[in-house]
Amino acid sequence: MCQQCGHAAARWLGQCPGCQAWNTFVEEALPDERRQRAGEPAGKPRLLATVRAGQSLRRSTGLAELDRVLGGGLVQGSIVLLGGDPGIGKSTLALQACGALARQGLPVLYVAGEESPEQVRLRADRLGMVEDGVLVLPETSAEAVVEEIARAKPSAVVVDSIQTLHTTALGSAPGSVGQVRESAALLTTHCKATGIGCFLIGHVTKEGTLAGPRVLEHLVDTVLYFEGDGAHALRVLRAVKNRFGSTNEVGVFEMGEGGLVEVANPSAAFLAERPVGAPGSAVLATLEGSRPVLVEIQALVSRSGLAMPRRTAIGLDPGRVALLLAVLEKRMRMQLHDQDVFLNVAGGLRIDEPAADLAIVAAVASSASGRPLAEDVAVWGEVGLTGEVRAVARPDARLREAGRQGFARCVLPAGNLKGLATVAGTRPRGVAALDQLFEALDLS
Ligand code: TYD
Ligand code: MG
Repeated sequence: MCQQCGHAAARWLGQCPGCQAWNTFVEEALPDERRQRAGEPAGKPRLLATVRAGQSLRRSTGLAELDRVLGGGLVQGSIVLLGGDPGIGKSTLALQACGALARQGLPVLYVAGEESPEQVRLRADRLGMVEDGVLVLPETSAEAVVEEIARAKPSAVVVDSIQTLHTTALGSAPGSVGQVRESAALLTTHCKATGIGCFLIGHVTKEGTLAGPRVLEHLVDTVLYFEGDGAHALRVLRAVKNRFGSTNEVGVFEMGEGGLVEVANPSAAFLAERPVGAPGSAVLATLEGSRPVLVEIQALVSRSGLAMPRRTAIGLDPGRVALLLAVLEKRMRMQLHDQDVFLNVAGGLRIDEPAADLAIVAAVASSASGRPLAEDVAVWGEVGLTGEVRAVARPDARLREAGRQGFARCVLPAGNLKGLATVAGTRPRGVAALDQLFEALDLS
C-alpha cells in the first residue's frame, strides 16, 4: 500500500500509480489474516450505552512520574509507544515499571529482542528489581510473542524493542517499515482484545522520527518520548499523543547508579548548577505541561571573526531566537550583526513556549553588556516584533513556583498583572516593552 495516498496494489511498485510518488510502497498483511493470527473474533457492533468505561481500568505502574504522563496510570488494553534516543534509558524505565508492577502482584512479560535474558538480569540486579512476577522472553517473532502472551496471560507486556520484531505474514526483511508496523499491529490487536497493557519501545533516529515506524504513532494509544542529552543525568518524559489523558504532562527523572529516580522538585534540579553573578544567565519560569518549572537560559555573545556570525541555540527554536535577536537590534539598537550568539537551556531541556522570549532577551543582553542579573530574578513573557511584551498563560502558577524557589523579584508582562494573586515573598514587576525590561533588570 502507498504510505502517502493509500493506493493498494498486489505487488510492490517503485512508483505509486495513484499519487506518482516514488518509494512509498510498503508491504502490508490483510487485516482479516492478522485478526486470525492474533486470535481475535470478528468485531460485532454494540450499543454505545452498554459499553462500560471507567477509572477502574487504569493501573498504577508504581512510578508516579510515569503514571502522571500516562494520565493516571496504564490503561488496560492500551498500547504505549516509548520512543527516545539509544542509551537514553528506555529499557531502564520499562524494566523499573515491570518491577514495580510485579511488586503489586501483577505479572509482567518482558520481551527482550535486543538483549539476552542475562543482560536483562544484570540490569535488574543493578536496579535492585529482581521480582518474582517478571517473565523474560528472548524472542523476535511477533507470532511467538502473541502465543506467549496468550499462554502466560500477563497484566502488561514490554517489547524491547519493536524494531527487532518480525512477522511471517510479510516477506520483507526484519526491521523494515512494513515488518515493524505489521508486528506492532499484530500485538496491538491481541492486547486490545485481551485487555493487556503494552509498552512498545522504539528507537528514534537522528532526524527525530521513530526509526522508520513513525507510522506506529497512529496505531498506538499513547506516544511517549524520553528526552535529555547524554551529558546530563536529567531526563524528561513527555506525552506527544494520549488517547487516555492530556498530552500536557511531563515526568522528570534523574539517571543515577541505581537507575532512574523520580525528581520531585524539577526546578531545583534544573537550577542546581546555576552560576550566580555571571553575565548571560537568566532564570525563566516556564510551563512544562501543566507544571511550572524554573530553568536557566544561558547566552554567550562574543565578537565573531566570521562573515556570517554563528547563531547556535540548544534546546530552543532557532527561528524564534533569530527573530528575538533582530528585535533587539532594531528596537534596542544592540549591535549583534558582528557577534556570535550561543544560547543553551541548562540541564538539557527543550523549551517551545514563547514565554521564554523575555529570558532569552535578558540572557543575551546580559552577556552582551557583561552585567549579571540579580540572583533572585525570574522572568517570563512573550516578545512581539515591535518590542512589546505580551501576556502569557498561567502567570499565577509561574509566580507561585518562583516564590517557592526563592525568586523574590519577578519580571513579567504588564498584561499579566491584572488579577494576579499576591504570592508571599514575591514582588512582581510588569513590563510592557523591552526598554522597560532593560530598566527593570538594570541592563540599560
Ligand atoms: P538503557 O535503558 O539501556 O537505554 P536505552 O534502552 O534507551 O537504549 O540505559 C542506557 C544508559 O543508562 C547506559 O548508558 C547506562 C545508564 N544507566 C545508568 O546510568 N544507571 C543505571 O542504573 C542503568 C540501568 C543504566
Ligand atoms: Mg534498550
